[in-house]
Amino acid sequence: MKIAMPVSLSPNSLPEGERDTGSLREVPIKRIVILISGRGSNMQAILEARLPVKIAAVISNKADAKGLETAARHGVTTAVVYHKQYSNRTDFDTALAAKIDEFSPDLVVLAGFMRILTPEFVNHYQGRLINIHPALLPAFPGLNTHEKALQEGVRIHGCTVHFVTPSVDHGPIIVQAAVPVLPDDTPDTLAARVLEQEHLIYPQTIRWFAEGRLTLEQGKVTVRTGGACAAALRSPWEA
Ligand code: GRF
Repeated sequence: MKIAMPVSLSPNSLPEGERDTGSLREVPIKRIVILISGRGSNMQAILEARLPVKIAAVISNKADAKGLETAARHGVTTAVVYHKQYSNRTDFDTALAAKIDEFSPDLVVLAGFMRILTPEFVNHYQGRLINIHPALLPAFPGLNTHEKALQEGVRIHGCTVHFVTPSVDHGPIIVQAAVPVLPDDTPDTLAARVLEQEHLIYPQTIRWFAEGRLTLEQGKVTVRTGGACAAALRSPWEA
């Protein structure tokens, strides 16, 4: 694969020896660190998407996070920074950032990482910290998004990948995927429909990043996909 131009979200040096100097590649392989707290299905989708990146590490704030086993099975380095070992949020975030930075990431990927992050942490990774949220932001930030969507009676729901800012579930939107809300939906059926889309758009985002198609300038995201604009999404759907 030939990568035409460097991604410029964050200049980040790569350890000697991991630089790809082959003639086909013009940029170093991007290094990714993924943060999880639990199941890790988004992380798994990223690991299995055969992306042109180096997954440098998967880090969890909980030793029993299921996703750690999956990561280890995929041969990825794992680490735990247990939040309860720190007396306050700042100390935890400082330790977490120190651990992350051992892996020199170009991009830090929050994949079900259930901790509120301090502004200092977020600013440290400005432009290279992304999150996936199971709703069409800015609708339904926070927890229990599928329950909230059903309570509000929305007809279209979905998921969002965005750059992280100090406000929770907020920041420049990279990509969204929409799904219909069906009359018999429960939070679980709706969650499953949304999760299927999460597993597509999160790896896609990282691919765009790796291929230099993603730019963040003055709070706005541009994605050079080369594809045509999709048709409008409407619900109820006409037969
Ligand atoms: C996903 O729904 C994601 O959108 C949200 O937390 C959930 C994590 O699921 N941030 P998993 O751990 O990736 O399976």
